Amino acid sequence: MEIKLRNLKRNYGSLHAVDGVSLTIPSNTVYGIIGRSGAGKSTLVRLVSMLEKPDSGEVYYDDKRVDNLSKAELIDERRRIGMIFQNFNLFSSRNAAENIAYPMEICHMEKGDIKSRVEELLALVGLEGRGDAPISTLSGGQKQRVAIARALAIKPAILFCDEATSALDPQTTRSILALIKEIQQKMNLTVVMITHQMEVVRDACDRVAVLDSGHIVEEGLVSDIFSSPKSDVTKDFISSVTNVQESIVRWSNEGGHYTLRFRGSSTDEPIISTVSAATGAVFNIRAAGVQTVNGEELGVMIADIGPDEAIAEKAVARLREMGVSVEEEKKEAN
Ligand SMILES: Nc1ncnc2c1ncn2[C@@H]1O[C@H](COP(=O)(O)OP(=O)(O)OP(=O)(O)O)[C@@H](O)[C@H]1O
Ligand SMILES: [Mg+2]
Repeated sequence: MEIKLRNLKRNYGSLHAVDGVSLTIPSNTVYGIIGRSGAGKSTLVRLVSMLEKPDSGEVYYDDKRVDNLSKAELIDERRRIGMIFQNFNLFSSRNAAENIAYPMEICHMEKGDIKSRVEELLALVGLEGRGDAPISTLSGGQKQRVAIARALAIKPAILFCDEATSALDPQTTRSILALIKEIQQKMNLTVVMITHQMEVVRDACDRVAVLDSGHIVEEGLVSDIFSSPKSDVTKDFISSVTNVQESIVRWSNEGGHYTLRFRGSSTDEPIISTVSAATGAVFNIRAAGVQTVNGEELGVMIADIGPDEAIAEKAVARLREMGVSVEEEKKEAN
């Protein structure tokens, strides 16, 4: 199911928590929404999932407007949504199977159907035979698996994940992200992944929107955003997952200070040597790293280019011709 947002706004008193957000979230994708704490992510999700009404603007599921529904319609439409959260929100008085059964009981499904569906869901999330487990005996990763199974119980078209992996260690995070991706493809779900972790965007999402102070500052394919980020917020998020740290390069005092971003096959080519030989430029490499984003190799290099400004300019032009994104940083005085 495709989700369309048109100029959504939500204020709390004088605070513009969501301030004019327009987005199209395509069907059958994992779509990331990233932002710092307080950026408005959870508020946006509450609007999109019909838990709260916007002050103005519209929400569409496919072509159906859903932000102005009556109570009865809302209950119906909400069946098309599953949600999971950072703190799992499971019932501690129920075991794993009973948690998963809950939404089906609410819908008055037959007992026998519920039982077989619970078994199916336990298997889907890798918890076969663990239905009897009291919630308190499960690890964080297992709890999130139960929560995912419960969210999918009545076959929603959309799964919202609000910081679903923020309470998990890196290895468990990877296994939960892999599970979500696998389920997305199996069930043709639209997954909306709310996060403040760029690893989550890099490892799980197809597209991403960067939210800052209630605004979308950047939106696009994850590999495009990683290879040529535009806003400072996005650059900060990216540098948090690149092993190229600003602090390493602060002591540079001569020549320019450039960030080069390579993608795809250009990470294998001897681009620096080629440009150096062609222009006479000297590269002083301060830091460099490569990471895989959505199956594509993306490289980052921080370098000074010399020996003088004219040659550096030529080198930069040449690099850009070769498909490298080049950004000149302002020099820090130190
Ligand atoms: N019910 C509310 N009443 C008043 N202010 C609110 C309410 N909900 C959110 N806010 C404010 O709106 C802003 C956005 O909050 P929101 O919870 O959407 O941010 P977030 O991006 O989800 O942050 P976090 O990463 O910390 O979860 C914050 O300044 C918050 O204090
Ligand atoms: Mg939040």
